[in-house]
Amino acid sequence: MALWGGRFTSGPDEAVFALSRSIDFDWRLAPYDLRSSLAHLSVLENAKLVSTKDGALIRAALKQLQQEVSEGQFFPDPSDEDVHSALERGLTLKLGSLGGSLRAGRSRNDQVATDLRLFAIDHMLHIAEQVTALQGALLEKAHEYVDASAPGFTHLQHAQPVSFGHELAKHAHALNRDVDRIRDWHGRTNFSPLGAGALAGSSLLLDPEGSASNLGFSGAIANSIDAVSDRDFVAEALFILAMIGSHLSRMGEEWCLWASTEFGWAKIDDAFATGSSIMPQKKNPDIAELARGKAGRLIGNLTAVLSMLKGLPFAYNRDLQEDKEPLFDSLDTLSLVLPAFAGMVLTTTFDRAKMAASAPTGFSLATEIADYLVRAGIPFAQAHEAAGKCVHACESAGIELHELSDSELKEIHPALDSNVREVLSVDGALASRTTFGGTAPSNVRIQIAALESNISNRAAWIASESQRFSGMMGA
Ligand code: ARG
Repeated sequence: MALWGGRFTSGPDEAVFALSRSIDFDWRLAPYDLRSSLAHLSVLENAKLVSTKDGALIRAALKQLQQEVSEGQFFPDPSDEDVHSALERGLTLKLGSLGGSLRAGRSRNDQVATDLRLFAIDHMLHIAEQVTALQGALLEKAHEYVDASAPGFTHLQHAQPVSFGHELAKHAHALNRDVDRIRDWHGRTNFSPLGAGALAGSSLLLDPEGSASNLGFSGAIANSIDAVSDRDFVAEALFILAMIGSHLSRMGEEWCLWASTEFGWAKIDDAFATGSSIMPQKKNPDIAELARGKAGRLIGNLTAVLSMLKGLPFAYNRDLQEDKEPLFDSLDTLSLVLPAFAGMVLTTTFDRAKMAASAPTGFSLATEIADYLVRAGIPFAQAHEAAGKCVHACESAGIELHELSDSELKEIHPALDSNVREVLSVDGALASRTTFGGTAPSNVRIQIAALESNISNRAAWIASESQRFSGMMGA
């Protein structure tokens, strides 16, 4: 059904209609469109622009349409240009010309901006919930492996031994910032464009604040031109989703490495791995790889929207129709990846003995020697030099640091007495790293507990916002 045409002598060319149609992807905005129509109807009734009798008829028809849409009984028609025109067709089928009343004081420009905000808020809350679940899985594993030692890497070379629980928990810390970002984003996004009309507001004494509060927004957007132009909330959401994707991608890469034959640390559960069609022995970390690979499209979606917005004059331009597919795709992508990844994390087991055996290799305890000398009053530059010489001596002799004899140690530096052997153990090295945020298992336990309480505060916020949102949708 066309929402315009009075000043035209012909309908759009077939190719034009095909290009401009958005119904194939924007139909999923239908529940939000219907809900915002209910809010708009109340405003029209309050302004006495729709009589109580007509208002009751329209409300009943909108509610019926909500039901029919959710049950799939009402659906788009090839003649529908977009979700707004499809739903007006539905309303007109029930009410005749009265179905067009809701267009008073409202344009598709403020309508689509409102629908998309509601959609984005609903779905971003869901992503926040899924991220929290992944954090829970990571921390559960982190608890389990707090006492397990493993080599820590920089430049993918053995650097210093770490608690493997510390290694796992770091990802939950990174994801916490993503949940914080969603919360900040929500605070900025939860404002209503409805009432801005095409761009200039309305002369029909409408009430943007009233419809904003009806829809659970914190308020109405203060400038009607900005209200219909602003897609910052889409770009920002896409950035957050790309950041989550990048975190997942880095995690995925670690899982792939850890599960490789060369590392042999991680055993991915059969339910979270896949096989090869030709090599019967294969068990592949496809979930981790997909998580790593999907980051590409998430970043692409952000880039698409930022490029579309750049240089775009304010108020509505049809370019803005290009905001939806990238947002839908990023949300859909992550809501597939997050639960699969969480399941993989929860069911992976790690080979403690193998990680522990590898922890001291590659001279990863060399820093301990330097720190030992510093504690004995030697300036760090000298201490570093002496520890380096120990590594060199070991490399030449093909031995590990703890295998240097007392006399070899003394020869390298007079302050290197046999007490240094105490720090040349992985457990000793781990236990000594008690600085805030450090890898000592006693510390890591405190970090995990602090993060858990942090996460449960955020989870409470997510739950109450989601409840408030679904209450509003059902009203
Ligand atoms: N389908 C359009 C979109 O997604 C709705 C708004 C159309 N507004 C207009 N003035 N043509 O952006």
